[in-house]
Amino acid sequence: VQTCALPISSYRGVGGKPVGITRTHRHARTGPRDVAYMTDSSGGVTLDDHDAQLVAAARAVRDYAYAPYSRFAVGAAVRVAPQAAPLEGTLHRGVTGQTLPDTFVGCNVENASFDLTICAERNAVFQAVAAGARSIEAVAVVTDAPTPTMPCGACRQVLREFGPDMVVIGATLAGKVARYRLSELLPGSFGPEDLPGA
Ligand code: THU
Repeated sequence: VQTCALPISSYRGVGGKPVGITRTHRHARTGPRDVAYMTDSSGGVTLDDHDAQLVAAARAVRDYAYAPYSRFAVGAAVRVAPQAAPLEGTLHRGVTGQTLPDTFVGCNVENASFDLTICAERNAVFQAVAAGARSIEAVAVVTDAPTPTMPCGACRQVLREFGPDMVVIGATLAGKVARYRLSELLPGSFGPEDLPGA
């Protein structure tokens, strides 16, 4: 069962129209479901239903962005690998000690002391980690920029800790989509394995 702190609506493209076609597909983790294939208007990137739902979660949480200084609202969502909830039943409302929710979300939170601003991506990662997750499969970032926004350098390094080759999806409100692997965005990266004794 897919769970998320926010309701997930289907991702929509320009003018609120659904993007792409829909067919029935059996997904390993979620069972039979509709799969909306989404094609962006520029690069021909397609997302399966699983990734489109991650984009929808990022899009939803973007509404909570606190960005009065930059006015650049960002929403991010991470999908974590299936994992038993380490703290059974105590922390995960609605999850009875079986598995963690698979989606965690974050928005950017700015501050009058500008340096203290935190990006949406790191907020989402920290939510996941605080719930006990340690492995991230994919991250989606949604902005209203003309082209998809990719995580900043600091966020790429933080993401790398929990999934060196995770899928990174950027999507705009207008429906443009870009999809990379983190290893493409942060080649030759430093990680836990580089520390002595790892
Ligand atoms: N920001 C993010 O949240 N994620 C990104 O990938 C790029 C930048 C935020 C930080 C700041 O609140 C605003 O966007 C402008 O930099």
